[in-house]
Amino acid sequence: MEHAITVQELTKRYEDVTAVDHVSFEVGKGEIFGFLGPNGAGKTTTIKILTGLMKPDGGKTFVAGYDVLKDPIGAKQHIGVVPEASNAYVDLTAWENLVLIGRLYGVPARKLRESCTSLLKEFGLYEVRDKLVRGFSKGMKQKLLLCMALVHDPEVLFLDEPTSGLDVESSRLLREKNNSIQRKGENGFPLHPQHGGSKPAVPPNSHNKPRSNSGHRHPGKPQSPEHGAPVPRSDLQQTPRSAGA
Ligand SMILES: Nc1ncnc2c1ncn2[C@@H]1O[C@H](COP(=O)(O)OP(=O)(O)O)[C@@H](O)[C@H]1O
Ligand SMILES: [Mg+2]
Repeated sequence: MEHAITVQELTKRYEDVTAVDHVSFEVGKGEIFGFLGPNGAGKTTTIKILTGLMKPDGGKTFVAGYDVLKDPIGAKQHIGVVPEASNAYVDLTAWENLVLIGRLYGVPARKLRESCTSLLKEFGLYEVRDKLVRGFSKGMKQKLLLCMALVHDPEVLFLDEPTSGLDVESSRLLREKNNSIQRKGENGFPLHPQHGGSKPAVPPNSHNKPRSNSGHRHPGKPQSPEHGAPVPRSDLQQTPRSAGA
């Protein structure tokens, strides 16, 4: 069986703390995989390694058919992440945040516009698309983060405590949305959104080469706001304002 994710003997130490200790698991295509544990169990560390943000001290990780250590850029192009801490720019609007992320991933302009519009509508943020994220509630920010994680149509979606701090109603809404995304897709960890056509993953020990990239893809994951360069806002404001896209 092809797996969306394979983790073998993953180990990570921070000085004297062993955060991840020889962890192995597999996630099948189409699965929602819940990775549970108390605070400090090593969940975020594992996600950081699987999404190429951190190098392990030992073990192997394959995501969407890519060896994350050997081909981190290939892997990142097929991964969406809702991180533990928000990575939305609060001084940009919802629309601008989405366009920024989509451009960093190299989504073609027309497809990006369509994708931003449909995601914002699906998550109930379309009416506030031109408002600064600074004024968003926690629930609105979390929904925007999910849109940002989906805008490049990833094969595998990682959610690090996406409902933490949300009220019951927002939590329920987010879970319902997650489930409906998974139902639409085919692959996943924990969800597989795949809006477009079917893209088979390559199993880690397959001799097939992973899918070639379209050439439109931008290598690498966008940097977080804390580390990113300033973005000229005028370059992002292509929202279908009153025209009703
Ligand atoms: N950057 C870091 N430096 C040192 N220790 C860390 C760092 N990040 C996490 N840890 C430690 O690693 C362990 C696992 O943390 P984490 O992966 O954040 O767990 P979880 O997400 O399950 O709460 C904890 O003991 C935590 O204190
Ligand atoms: Mg955590």
